[in-house]
Amino acid sequence: MRAHEAGALHGELGSTGPAWLRTPEDVNAILPQLWPTGVARAADGALAVGEVSVRALAEEFGTPAYVLDENDMRERCREFLAAFAGCDVYYAGKAFLCRAVVRIVAEEGLHLDVCTGGELATALSAGMPPERIGFHGNNKSVAELTRAVEAGVGRIVVDSFHEIDRLTAIARDLGRRPAVLLRVTVGVEAHTHEFIATAHEDQKFGFSLAGGAAFAAAQKIVEEGVLELCGLHSHIGSQIFDTSGFELSARRVLGLQAQIRDALGVELPELDLGGGFGIAYTTQDDPATPADLAKRLDKIVADECEALRLKLPRLSIEPGRAIVGPAVFTLYEVGTVKDVDGIRTYVSVDGGMSDNIRAALYGATYSATVASRTSAAPPILARVVGKHCESGDVVVKDEFLPADVQPGDLLAVPGTGAYCRSMASNYNHVPRPPVVAVRDGHARVIVRRETEDDLLALDVG
Ligand code: LLP
Repeated sequence: MRAHEAGALHGELGSTGPAWLRTPEDVNAILPQLWPTGVARAADGALAVGEVSVRALAEEFGTPAYVLDENDMRERCREFLAAFAGCDVYYAGKAFLCRAVVRIVAEEGLHLDVCTGGELATALSAGMPPERIGFHGNNKSVAELTRAVEAGVGRIVVDSFHEIDRLTAIARDLGRRPAVLLRVTVGVEAHTHEFIATAHEDQKFGFSLAGGAAFAAAQKIVEEGVLELCGLHSHIGSQIFDTSGFELSARRVLGLQAQIRDALGVELPELDLGGGFGIAYTTQDDPATPADLAKRLDKIVADECEALRLKLPRLSIEPGRAIVGPAVFTLYEVGTVKDVDGIRTYVSVDGGMSDNIRAALYGATYSATVASRTSAAPPILARVVGKHCESGDVVVKDEFLPADVQPGDLLAVPGTGAYCRSMASNYNHVPRPPVVAVRDGHARVIVRRETEDDLLALDVG
């Protein structure tokens, strides 16, 4: 028996729950709230996604690999569109972007939010209609803004007075009238990790509502008349479960909208409420459904508009994580298993903080399962760690795995579609894993694995 076999840790666990609840059946279970809909255990006990076994995936594409259940992602796009009918749903490309993903969201009828020249280039190169692109960022360069205006990007979300001046000069030069939204800092403390909360006063994004900068920016744009001010934008943060933050934020921006109407005589036709909708990483997380979110936000906006006698603006939202996060799992191979007597079992996989920095950076929690087989062995409490040269290289802090987990087993970590490949690094010169999309029995590489030659190609000294 390994250290921390089931029952040994009564009451000591945080998000994974008490040890005595775990049985071999629990450890082998694929809980629908944590896994893409196309994932199930096949007859041989291995996981299959979109009818393709993870054993076959590992054999063909190697490990580690990010595996995208394409139907699951498409279904999430449709769910948001249906729930937010009559709104524009921007997929936030920062969560994960590549050309195949651009095509998926474009085909599904979504808009796309980009926040750098690189993301814009990816979107345009995959044929995203420019008028369906929104361009964000607190420090867009002149080159990036020029490219966006030349390409005819649908909305540019302006974030500072310097940017308004820059964009105004570019618009004059090019003889264009770019449509802009104004990013407003609404002073809402979102309940999430401090690094990913974006609407409290003391931070770099947006124009402060309370301090008057947001109104002053609107006035400047309206009076100069070079840019077309279409509406206001607010994004309060990311991985948020408590919808009251979105509601408060909607109220506050609509208040500003009324102030702009009263003082400047313009009624802005649009309102973008940003993204940030949380997903389940462990069984402790209970996110709202898109239908729930839509119902609440629609009601707040309708009530507030009625109270302020505003026409209902066209709403937009920008979910990233909620669309791609749950559609992907990372497939690793176990390399070593080490019992540290009386403390815990460390299971090392062939990736780590270079393919998923979120545990190290935000203390994010994940779950994991042995993917290549089921096991009747009793559960042990394990920590899944990577192959990098630091002890903070944790993939899953606490998880119950079967006591017979061993080198050569495939291990899968669900919920890795958002902010894992997009934040991946080459730390320790580890090439980044591929992204493999699976659909209806067919697997294709959409981002290929990096090679050592790729790494050396940049090294020109
Ligand atoms: N719109 C704006 C303006 C944003 O800044 C973001 C995320 C989104 C939409 C999409 O948020 P989502 O729906 O994906 O939560 N790296 C962090 C998350 C940073 C989010 C940055 N902005 C993480 O791994 O949790």
